[in-house]
Amino acid sequence: MTGKEDFLRTLKEQRDAAPQPQVEKRQGLLDNVVGAVGGLLGSIAQSVNPDNRRPEEGYEFIAPGPDDSRGPCPGLNLLANHGYLPRDGFVNYEQVVEATSRGFNMGADLSTLLTVFSILANGDIADQSFYLGSGPGNVGGLNRHSTVEADVSPNREDYYLGCGDNHHISSRLFKQNTAFASEDANKEFTLETMAKQWAANAQFSQDNNPFLYFFPFPSIVALGAYAFYPNFFSNGTYGDGGVANFESISSIIGAKLNEETGEFEYVPERWPENWYRRSTPYGVIPALTDVLTRIYPAYLLPMPFGQLGSDNLSPQTILCVIYQGLQSIQPLALEGQTRSLTGAITWSLGKLADVGLSDTILGCPTSTLSNDWLVANASMAGGPLNPPTDYVENAGNNVFGQTYFCEAPTEPTCNNECSA
Ligand code: HEM
Ligand SMILES: *[C@@H]1O[C@H](CO)[C@@H](O)[C@H](O)[C@H]1NC(C)=O
Ligand SMILES: *[C@@H]1O[C@H](CO)[C@@H](O)[C@H](O)[C@H]1NC(C)=O
Repeated sequence: MTGKEDFLRTLKEQRDAAPQPQVEKRQGLLDNVVGAVGGLLGSIAQSVNPDNRRPEEGYEFIAPGPDDSRGPCPGLNLLANHGYLPRDGFVNYEQVVEATSRGFNMGADLSTLLTVFSILANGDIADQSFYLGSGPGNVGGLNRHSTVEADVSPNREDYYLGCGDNHHISSRLFKQNTAFASEDANKEFTLETMAKQWAANAQFSQDNNPFLYFFPFPSIVALGAYAFYPNFFSNGTYGDGGVANFESISSIIGAKLNEETGEFEYVPERWPENWYRRSTPYGVIPALTDVLTRIYPAYLLPMPFGQLGSDNLSPQTILCVIYQGLQSIQPLALEGQTRSLTGAITWSLGKLADVGLSDTILGCPTSTLSNDWLVANASMAGGPLNPPTDYVENAGNNVFGQTYFCEAPTEPTCNNECSA
């Protein structure tokens, strides 16, 4: 038997051993989400360091106004709501790397990787900036699909099925996530809980979304986000006494239970009272390791990594594919930036090298930078270069105080609000 077959078999065994989603059987729980939430409360972090308490003084919560840009990333939205990032949601490279470290202890390699791609594909290279939601005129920003934002997100609907709404919390998804958490021995949003959410969401998208786009970088961002829930949102350090409890998660992602309707309203992201960030940085390698060993095996959605199914698949080879694909971002850059693009790639390579993501360390030389995997499909329906008009209308910044997607959108659902 070849190494490749062995590896595939191992993956399949891991998948079979992993708890499979049984969404139908959970209907009872979903019907009684108020009761389920009641059962989730009360877990306590074992040890916290007072220095890690957030927010610090002077960083109080202020709800965003209608002109403030907010989008698909709860972590960045929260940092802007607490003033660790500019409250208008127009941010730059230095600010993001600094704020994600200070607020959540994100490793500089991870924040740099995310920020570099966001600036290249969704922002402005000239001042290394981007918008957290939509840019002016609903162009660019993190809402832009399939550049960094991706399908099969933990608690947002797919771009195609959500009719362009890939950025508001989906009530039905968080109800499902809550049901998985209530099955956990400690009622937490652990990696195992999030692996069930991944499996259910990947299956749903595969069954219902004909334009399921999975390019290397955004696909890894979406998968990574499942591991971010416990690792960044826990009260205390996950794996070292911290708890991924409902109190912390629901407040940080802005999901507020309406006890009358049994649905989750989307409210501005906010730290709960008395919350402590993780005490050690969580960077690229632990994140990719969690993704590969704890999340992805629960559902083997096909992904664009040549190493998939071989024992060459590793955090390092995934990083190489991402690194090589940097060049592919060029044709996706927003209108008006064409002139500075060559400089932009040089800038990006420099930033990545600063945090140890260099050709020599990864073993994938700059000469192999490739520009052919992303471009071919970018203009297809649902791709980043050719969004349909009614989708563009849904691309605006987040609107809070509403409930979105009470039911699963098995077809494109442009009317996404529900009062239930
Ligand atoms: C460093 C710069 C960052 C950038 C550019 C960024 C960007 C994004 C984008 C584009 C998405 C949408 C991905 C998708 O469609 O699934 C996303 C989702 C997400 N991000 Fe971030 N992010 C950053 C930092 C963070 C931090 C510091 C945290 C946690 C503290 C975080 C937590 C999450 C989570 C949990 C999601 C998934 C949301 C959901 O669907 O439930 N991100 N981020
Ligand atoms: C976080 O943990 C500390 C220490 O156990 C506890 O006092 C606090 O109430 C917890 N906060 C949340 C939001 O769970
Ligand atoms: C991407 O484009 C290529 C070439 O145009 C095509 O053969 C392929 O089927 C497309 N892939 C998807 C996922 O649509």
